[in-house]
Amino acid sequence: MREKRIFIKTFGCQMNEYDSERMLALVGEEYVPCEVPEEADLILVNTCSVRRKAEEKVYSFVGRFKSLKAKRPEVVIGVTGCVAQQEGERIVKRLPHVDLVLGPQNIYRLPEALEKIRRGRGPVVLTELKKDFKPPLIPATYDGARPVKAQVTIMQGCDNFCSYCVVPYVRGREVSRPPEDILREIECLVQQGVREVTLLGQNVNSYGQKEKGYPTFAELLRMVAQIKGLWRIRFTTSHPKDLSEDLMRTIAEEEKVCEHLHLPVQSGSSRVLARMNRGYTREEYLARVARLRELVPGIALTTDLIVGFPGETESDFQETLTLLEEVRFDEIFSFKYSDRPLARARKFEDKVPEEVKAARLWKVHEVQARITQEIRESYIGRKAEVLVEGPSETRPEVLTGRTRTNHVVNFTAPKELELKGALVYVLIKEAGKHSLRGEFLEILKGPGGGPDED
Ligand code: SAH
Ligand code: SF4
Ligand code: F3S
Repeated sequence: MREKRIFIKTFGCQMNEYDSERMLALVGEEYVPCEVPEEADLILVNTCSVRRKAEEKVYSFVGRFKSLKAKRPEVVIGVTGCVAQQEGERIVKRLPHVDLVLGPQNIYRLPEALEKIRRGRGPVVLTELKKDFKPPLIPATYDGARPVKAQVTIMQGCDNFCSYCVVPYVRGREVSRPPEDILREIECLVQQGVREVTLLGQNVNSYGQKEKGYPTFAELLRMVAQIKGLWRIRFTTSHPKDLSEDLMRTIAEEEKVCEHLHLPVQSGSSRVLARMNRGYTREEYLARVARLRELVPGIALTTDLIVGFPGETESDFQETLTLLEEVRFDEIFSFKYSDRPLARARKFEDKVPEEVKAARLWKVHEVQARITQEIRESYIGRKAEVLVEGPSETRPEVLTGRTRTNHVVNFTAPKELELKGALVYVLIKEAGKHSLRGEFLEILKGPGGGPDED
């Protein structure tokens, strides 16, 4: 009998979203998800520590539950994920109403930790990081929600130690999951109606490199592409230094692999890239992009970048701007550099003042907004393949989905058609600020009349 309620708030990246789904599944026999923390018997906050702001958000979010705990002491409050790993015991000292602290590798011990708390042996803090950690296979349970797309973590941790980044310290060393587990998990998702899967890792290109007898990432993609009933494959994040010719060819050749690559550049200046310990120069990055575009014409590229890294001069920054103009990314995620505990760059002396960082971020946004808009406008009048995710959250009369190139498309279609989960053609009519808009043309596959198989 599921009598209790669980509320999970997830901060941070897709890997945290994946972990939150695992935690829901782990306690799924006992707890039903609920929408508001006030109604919950178990509150979990799955945290991110990648930038200072993200960490501050966690403290203010968890702090709010102090009065709730005073009113209902039986409510269990847990902090999980990357801040949990980084701060450990300090969390229960600073926030005494917290019962549970689980690092990303320890989320699988949630049932055991809850049992301890039940027996009055809390607070429980589990932050052990193992080199050879192997996450168990826990298929998600969607409670009848039937999602069209899902994410699957294929590897944990990171070995790259970019000098600004906390991830290797909070997620531990890189470990790849066995290919059989990955394939089994995706098959199980497809049986539940999932048509698109995103393979996740901090650096998916180095999948299987440390393990004996594992396929390479390109080979894994080809194996996943064999799964019947799966229509689209995406993956993130790719590290530019490990982007192989073989992987580029696989994107070109495997029909199910979508024409979109998230390839974080971080900076356009080779001098800054070296200090970031990224392992490539501006020229090498541009050469890979050129080769990729040769093999996969029309591929959409997105990126992450950091402004105001210690020692970044005005001329380094100009190189980031010229790189944006040269590559013409479809979209970028840009951040002001912030010091992170344990990351090497916190000790670099030539820090960039906050107002300079803010001005550079603003400039980056301005340049990119124009490029993104121009790219979106180039879709007008074209026919785009869209996987329909369902009604739009803000306007239920409109359907929403994404192109293969990962642009959001909102479109109208005849009401009598049941299109959720279908692959359709949409005629693009307008390019809005955040999405493309269009009109339904025809069904390619799936509900509403198309064939169901590959
Ligand atoms: N593994 C991925 C990124 C993980 S973190 C990769 O290698 O690209 C997501 C993004 O956060 C990074 O790409 C970077 O742009 C940003 N980031 C990480 N640490 C940061 C810091 N200390 N300050 C500002 N941005 C940071
Ligand atoms: Fe962080 Fe670099 Fe690893 Fe990405 S590759 S998670 S930026 S250390
Ligand atoms: Fe944040 Fe941890 Fe992901 S630090 S970005 S949640 S790996």
